[in-house]
Amino acid sequence: MSDVKTYPVPAEFAAQANINAEQYASMYAQSINDPDTFWGEQAEQYLTWFQKWDKVQDWSFDQDDLHINWFTGGTLNVSYNCLDRHLDTRGDQVAIIWEGDNPNEDRKITYRELHAEVSKLANVLKARGVKRGDRVSLYLPMIPEAAVAMLACTRIGAIHSIVFGGFSPDALRDRIQDSECGVVITSDQSMRGGKKVPLKGNADKAMDQCPSVHTCIVVQRGGDPVKWNDSRDIWYHDAIAAADAECPAEPMEADDPLFILYTSGSTGKPKGVLHTTGGYLLQAAMTHKTVFDYKDGEVYWCTADVGWVTGHSYIVYGPLANGATSLMFEGIPTYPDAGRFWDVCDKHNVATFYTAPTAIRMLMGAGDQFVERAKLSSLRLLGSVGEPINPEAWEWYHRVVGKNRCPIVDTWWQTETGAHMLTPLPGATPLKPGSATNPFFGVEPCLLDDQGNEIEGNPAVGNLAIKRPWPSMMRSLYGDHKRFYEAYFAMFKGYYFTGDGARRDEDGYYWITGRVDDVLNISGHRLGTAEIESALVLHPKVAEAAVVGYPHELTGQGIYAYVTLMAGEEGTDDLKNELNTLVRKEIGPIAKINIIQWSPGLPKTRSGKIMRRILRKIAANEIDGLGDTSTLADPSVVDNLIDFRENK
Ligand code: PRX
Repeated sequence: MSDVKTYPVPAEFAAQANINAEQYASMYAQSINDPDTFWGEQAEQYLTWFQKWDKVQDWSFDQDDLHINWFTGGTLNVSYNCLDRHLDTRGDQVAIIWEGDNPNEDRKITYRELHAEVSKLANVLKARGVKRGDRVSLYLPMIPEAAVAMLACTRIGAIHSIVFGGFSPDALRDRIQDSECGVVITSDQSMRGGKKVPLKGNADKAMDQCPSVHTCIVVQRGGDPVKWNDSRDIWYHDAIAAADAECPAEPMEADDPLFILYTSGSTGKPKGVLHTTGGYLLQAAMTHKTVFDYKDGEVYWCTADVGWVTGHSYIVYGPLANGATSLMFEGIPTYPDAGRFWDVCDKHNVATFYTAPTAIRMLMGAGDQFVERAKLSSLRLLGSVGEPINPEAWEWYHRVVGKNRCPIVDTWWQTETGAHMLTPLPGATPLKPGSATNPFFGVEPCLLDDQGNEIEGNPAVGNLAIKRPWPSMMRSLYGDHKRFYEAYFAMFKGYYFTGDGARRDEDGYYWITGRVDDVLNISGHRLGTAEIESALVLHPKVAEAAVVGYPHELTGQGIYAYVTLMAGEEGTDDLKNELNTLVRKEIGPIAKINIIQWSPGLPKTRSGKIMRRILRKIAANEIDGLGDTSTLADPSVVDNLIDFRENK
């Protein structure tokens, strides 16, 4: 790939950067050769500890002894680090700028105000019996109360589990049940693109089947009436008005659980990724400061939703730990029109803008005039996350949005990794469009062949794995440590396996090629093929279903479902609609099937395993590259599928 265009670090940017190329090289070397000293120093610099740790790290990736500990013996509190310690120096600085769905609505909340509100809600939770280690489910729109609720949990040591507002009642129910949440915090409605979604109504349906829930705290947002259960439901504003604004921050062990975040795996039900306190906050804060080159007083905007890990680490925890001003946006990129993001950048003087390739592609398609009507003179850095960014979108983002002036940090990471793992540092790393470039400090990536051997030298292609833990690494799957081992460490012994494939070019730059397991990435949202298949086979007319991803111009990947009907049933458009409705009910509107193909048979090995490799090729219309089909029980099935695809 020597013809790939490289963008050097702009000299003016390098001159003022928090980390330059020499610093990156020497710090990275130290982080690998002497990790205890390196991370000990960073933990002192970035966080305030109630009590210092005895041991920086202690770990094993072995099946019988799988454990990952950081800063053992140290105690701290996340809300203290994000709020209290800033009060003397920046109490009146804005912590959160909230931009409503409606362009005429916004709010600014200072650190002092946020501290008071968080303390009040923490007292409300305590009064409802919530204690250290208890689980609280958050099902909220992008409103400041979402950040307040997260921080209130951390203040008293409760574990939050945020469920994205686009998930269905059934999906919410499963997540509440899995971690036995006692409290649900939601809102009457959410507002997105001028439309209301009945969050409380959805939560009611879920809570009907969740005996663990004793309290539901409801934020008023949409204003429409909601059903009320007097013994369970309380209004957020009533409870806050009556609460005390003093609530001491609970000292937590460094590896006490901080939050659970459910994400899709290649098999079975969603996995409750468990993150803990000290290491997570350290890497979230440090990456926010170094990858985004954050400078005091700047306005920083990450467009993610707090329902995803990006919102956790880069709207709330990283920025607030650093005393930043974090912009939180309730709406969508195309409302009232496709210029909204750029208008908001001008309105609030945004310096750093961090979004997903799917949004960039969509806005690129809407036309340059929407960008050009804004000045965008405050912007100095752009970011990308969630899926590989195609070079064309990268170039457009750089030229039209960044005016050839702003570096782009393409950050590769995962719910499981908690914070950035492969990423440029904008003052240090020459950029190549589409590459997540180099490892962050302390991250030791490698490429493995299918037998688990490390592939040395460049260029190389293989399975992306990580050789040692990093501070913000997940610690377990909630309530299922065995599955934690099986999902991440069993495939390649001695390594954390990411589930992604990657290429390393002649300069050692990493290029993520996408998932190599049965996980889909639709518009940067992770979905398991198994979850969608389980939903499809609930329909009485469906005998079997196999779901794969295929390349999609706008959403990165699309969902392609091969469905085998019961004998005598006929595939109709009505049935397609019924199946889509069923998947929407089971998972949520984010799981929309693009193509359903009626498939009288599926390609299987003689032992009955579906050959997904072949299904992926057919879905991608790569009929010539099907490879060896001789191990199939009935090779003619493939010809039938191809005929159907072509006649569709
Ligand atoms: O496949 C990779 C892709 O998103 C997956 C992680 O998804 P999730 O846990 O939902 O977290 C998304 C936000 C961190 C990864 O396994 N991915 C994420 N960022 C990138 C990416 N693929 C390529 N380039 C990226 N920058």
